[in-house]
Amino acid sequence: MTTLPATSLTEIAQQLTGAGRGVLAADESIKTMSARLAAEGVPASATARRDYRELLLTADGLSQWISGIILCDETFGQDLADGRPFPVAARELGVLPGIKVDTGTTPLPGQGGALITEGLDGLGARLAAYADRGAAFAKWRAVFDVDTITPYSAGANGQALARYAALCQQHGIVPIVEPEVLCAGTHGIDASAKASALALSALFAELIDAGVDLSAIVLKPNFVTPGLDAAPASPAEAAAATVAVLREYVPAEVPGIAFLSGGHPTARVCEYLTALAAIDGRPWSVTFSFGRALVSAALRTWANAPTDIVAAQDVLLGNCATAAQAASA
Ligand code: G3H
Repeated sequence: MTTLPATSLTEIAQQLTGAGRGVLAADESIKTMSARLAAEGVPASATARRDYRELLLTADGLSQWISGIILCDETFGQDLADGRPFPVAARELGVLPGIKVDTGTTPLPGQGGALITEGLDGLGARLAAYADRGAAFAKWRAVFDVDTITPYSAGANGQALARYAALCQQHGIVPIVEPEVLCAGTHGIDASAKASALALSALFAELIDAGVDLSAIVLKPNFVTPGLDAAPASPAEAAAATVAVLREYVPAEVPGIAFLSGGHPTARVCEYLTALAAIDGRPWSVTFSFGRALVSAALRTWANAPTDIVAAQDVLLGNCATAAQAASA
């Protein structure tokens, strides 16, 4: 087992979330990635998924804006066309490689539709193997819906996230801890704030009880906003509501917060990040760990012109630059 001192993990967490760079989430499961390729008319296969992820990682100058890339198990084990394994190539390109280690969600019995994220069985051995293959950080995503979150589901998911985070630190890997309140729906901003508060309060109680070093994690939350099918909040409103919840529940020892995009359009979610980054007196760095907001347009560009890799990479780089500039506001 590789064990690094906590200071090194803290430095990695700072590196992931500081200096105006953010984390590219390219860790869609085989099923989700295949569906996204198919939706753009690209026949899904292991090779197509590999080619697409290679396009993202090898965009020229990506590391100017991107500190780390989250991969799924399939991509972590694949090689680029030049034969380099993805985690090796990522490090050579100045981007820390990360690995999604949860195995997805299933309904929690008796909880009216609330979900629990699975993947703890055998996780220590998997983390040891990922660390040996170069993983610097990992990700585990808990999923909540404003209509179905319960105190029990918040606690159960908080405990799973805490057990995952403690195991990551034991194996020399920085845990990205993601309690995602879904943005889908017609709810108002108050419902998002209430669900986010419940998820975060349960999470930090569990992290503390589990003995997780809070200075060596990255928190990956949603912005507090109305649902995607409701009238959007202004950037100032979303930023203020998000910071209010974070200030109440996220201890100052946490070095960095990297937001997910949650299905918000790229321009809007970057405006939210700009407004939030401009708020004074925050104890934590703030940045992005976007998936769709960075990659959706690039995927479409590639699907429309598969031989023009650079055109798709330019679209990706443009979105990464916009997000990084938002984080530096
Ligand atoms: O787990 C969620 C992803 O890492 C971020 O995806 O930015 O498309 O919501 P998103």
